[in-house]
Amino acid sequence: MKFFIDTANLEEIKQAQDLGVLDGVTTNPSLMAKEGITGDKNVMQHYKDICAIVDDNVSAEVISTDFDGMVKEGEILAALNDKIVVKIPMIKDGIKALKYFSDKGIRTNCTLIFSAGQALLAAKAGANYVSPFLGRLDDIGADSFGLIEDIRLIFDNYGYETEILAASIRNTTHIVECAKIGADVMTGPLSSILGLLKHPLTDSGLAQFLADHKKAAGK
Ligand code: E4P
Repeated sequence: MKFFIDTANLEEIKQAQDLGVLDGVTTNPSLMAKEGITGDKNVMQHYKDICAIVDDNVSAEVISTDFDGMVKEGEILAALNDKIVVKIPMIKDGIKALKYFSDKGIRTNCTLIFSAGQALLAAKAGANYVSPFLGRLDDIGADSFGLIEDIRLIFDNYGYETEILAASIRNTTHIVECAKIGADVMTGPLSSILGLLKHPLTDSGLAQFLADHKKAAGK
């Protein structure tokens, strides 16, 4: 399973990269705004800064919602660095843009996926990644893991190479369940990744090992 971090915070991206388990980054306009990154020039520089930290897979989202605008923005983003994956919303013109970028060999991530039908359409249009939003589905009481299972089944039925990028991850259970179902990628906050480290028996076990070692050494 690939691990992406879902943030535009450079310090958190560095921390995850230093851990040695990071495969990429996803950002969105809300995450960029949260870091106070505004204005085209600053936004472009921020993507370059992120690319300088990680090895690959930096999802950069377009703001336009019409085909021409998405193509123009996506081409500018893709030209910034080979690590950029152009993030396109699941709308009609977005599907056309996915096909355009796929034909040009520019990688894409179709975002705001909430149904298996949307994922199927994005895969047909040649998206490299589809991003079903788990946490937001949970928020409305919908079956988020069921959606991942359905998309997995459909992609396997037809051999689509589009990767399932489980997004809007909120906790470690989301990550583990998605791994069991067969999501290719998860993107979540640093806390969800670090949360995988934790178990009380690990803490008490380590404390016991160290105490026994100290006792045996007569300290
Ligand atoms: C995905 O790429 C999105 O940036 C993200 O996962 C949305 O998560 P949220 O629902 O926590 O905002």
